[in-house]
Amino acid sequence: MNLEISPQGVIAGSIPLFAGHPARDLLPLDGIQAAIDAIWQDESVTRLFNYGDEQGNPELIDFLVERLRRDEGLEIGRENLMIIGGSTWGVDMISDQLTRAGDVLLVDAPSYRDALHIFRDHRLELRDVPIDDGGIVIAELERTLRELEVEGRAPKFYYVVPNFQNPSGITMPEERRMAVIELSRRYGFVIVEDDVYCDIRFGDQLPPSFYALARGENVLRLGTFSKTLAPGLRIGWLVGAADRIADFVGSGLLTMGGGANPFTAAIVAQYCRSGAWEAHLRWLREQYRARRDIALGALDSVMPASVTYTRPRGGYFIWLGLPPSLRVDDLAAAASERNVYFAPGAGFFADPADGLHHLRLSFSFLPLEDLRAGIEVLGDLIRQMSR
Ligand SMILES: Cc1ncc(COP(=O)(O)O)c(C=O)c1O
Repeated sequence: MNLEISPQGVIAGSIPLFAGHPARDLLPLDGIQAAIDAIWQDESVTRLFNYGDEQGNPELIDFLVERLRRDEGLEIGRENLMIIGGSTWGVDMISDQLTRAGDVLLVDAPSYRDALHIFRDHRLELRDVPIDDGGIVIAELERTLRELEVEGRAPKFYYVVPNFQNPSGITMPEERRMAVIELSRRYGFVIVEDDVYCDIRFGDQLPPSFYALARGENVLRLGTFSKTLAPGLRIGWLVGAADRIADFVGSGLLTMGGGANPFTAAIVAQYCRSGAWEAHLRWLREQYRARRDIALGALDSVMPASVTYTRPRGGYFIWLGLPPSLRVDDLAAAASERNVYFAPGAGFFADPADGLHHLRLSFSFLPLEDLRAGIEVLGDLIRQMSR
């Protein structure tokens, strides 16, 4: 969908239920301004206008390593973490370094649309495996791996969004993660864990990450500030075994251009080290939880029983299944007549035909009244169109 979002954050008169980024009133503008002021007063500020260390801003690396050690008990040092220009950069860099055109990857069905796009850019073959309300179905994963073995092929990696998945909102429980790790050991594939939503959880503790459960063996874990600060900062991180991180840091990309976005990385480091991020996270979780509650409340009151939807406990997204008689393209066309837009399911599948009766709603961006109004329009249309 190629709709222009105005500087005010809305498409004039319309309701973009597809928009999966933070609302403008949730951006910590004052805190970022204070961080900029502080680094500006530092006499070494001019160094930030030079190329940066290949591994990324050292203070931010130290902050993140310490946080992961303290909060998750990860046994990592600074040799296990590098700063990247957002998770997207990491997905592209990993694809570049670990694969050659024609290699096979494993992805969930559905999976994150823009990651699938990157994999296609790298001319990779996607084998998708169905998910249920606990993520990837292990029996199906085993079947796919055996099929590939018969073909004499092995997947290079499995790409997974483990917490509050984009697009389904689903979180994979610990036993399922362990089963995937066992298969990754048996069949020799890497797990690429794109964990961009873990800090937006509304209650329960999350299961340990793949990285923690596998003790770092053959897992690459991505994180980002896009969802909890702002995507325009373009700062994220990658955690992995020291030799893999060294390979990435030594790549031509970083040797030539230096580490990721030195100026904004310094702002983010200053912001985080002041304690502002943790305080912002506590507030942000409440804001997103309220939005999730409004969205689910509206869905509960307007959707017919023939519509299914997930009840995420964090993140940004709800995934809807339409009755078999209703195609999502027809719903999208009718909704656009009423200025309501959502993300149709097809884009989230390796085979777009699998997504003809699904759609993704985002509750992160819209004002509450628009969120409710947009869902009401969809409920109205679905009732009319599935009669
Ligand atoms: C699963 C997933 N990965 C990565 C991204 C993009 O992250 P970044 O802005 O850090 O590149 C998103 C944003 O929607 C996402 O949902």
